[in-house]
Amino acid sequence: MTQRHIPVLQKEVLGVLQPAHGEVYVDLTAGFGGHASLVLDRLGPNGQAFLVDQDQTALEALYDTFQADARVHIHRANFAEVDWQSIPSPNMVLADLGVSSAQLDDAERGFSFQHDAPLDMRMDQNRGVSAADYLAQIEEEDLATIIWQYGEDKKSRQIARAIVRARSMQPITTTHQLADIVRSQYPKGYHRIDPATRTFQALRIAVNRELDALETMLDAALAALAPGGRLAVISFHSLEDRIIKQKMRDITRDICDTITGQALQESQFRLVTKKPIIPAPNEIDYNPRARSAKLRAVEKKKITQKKEVL
Ligand SMILES: C[S@@+](CC[C@H](N)C(=O)[O-])C[C@H]1O[C@@H](n2cnc3c(N)ncnc32)[C@H](O)[C@@H]1O
Repeated sequence: MTQRHIPVLQKEVLGVLQPAHGEVYVDLTAGFGGHASLVLDRLGPNGQAFLVDQDQTALEALYDTFQADARVHIHRANFAEVDWQSIPSPNMVLADLGVSSAQLDDAERGFSFQHDAPLDMRMDQNRGVSAADYLAQIEEEDLATIIWQYGEDKKSRQIARAIVRARSMQPITTTHQLADIVRSQYPKGYHRIDPATRTFQALRIAVNRELDALETMLDAALAALAPGGRLAVISFHSLEDRIIKQKMRDITRDICDTITGQALQESQFRLVTKKPIIPAPNEIDYNPRARSAKLRAVEKKKITQKKEVL
């Protein structure tokens, strides 16, 4: 039985999005609609919500929950490929990144080594190559790079070598096979986190091209926001957070003359969160998934001024 997904940072998300009657909300990772329900409660009868997800199970749950609500429009898409022209300029955009508890708990999806299952890891089950096919084809050096960059595992080269050696004897098709190969490269005994965790994270990011999708999505969502609109993003690991932090910094910086330091053009955006908002300890107690969540937000200014160049 899959546990329903508990939305993270609920109060905090509402605090930065500030939903108001009649506004347009776009949820790029609608999942099981937890955040969407909270926002919809504040949109009144004339608000609209566009709920996007690429996962079939999430979409079915969204249809079940919202099909009777005429304010809600549900789209199946990767958030990097949303057709922004087809929706009104949003006042709020939310992206709550990563996998849902339901996806993790569903053994067949192969996201977690808690269950022995086919090594799939695709967020959109209808597209792309599975993690097993990906591992069967990748060169050892590229695999080491991925485990290093996306998993930040110091033993990346050693793990890549072990994977390539193992696959020459037998295809790696299950989560337990892969987890055992990774663990074999670490001394036996206690580890604070299972040594397989980082390689699984790396493989999931690579199979779903998660970081490329994040960058494309941020640019498109920022461009689409209505004046006064808010974009909030919740991330769960440092690679995502780094991209979000850098993007939000860049777009909220005025363009200055490099010699005089004088502002030439005021930035179009304002930082809503100077530092990332993290969950309170009691939230982590009842929802351990919230442990590494970080929320950042920006607002598109209502009017931007071009400073005259003297
Ligand atoms: C953490 S859950 C979101 C939960 C949601 N906020 C709620 O309250 O129920 C993340 C969701 O984002 C979806 N997702 C992740 N990456 C995506 C992408 N690139 N495009 C579309 N959906 C994506 C996943 O399928 C998953 O359903």
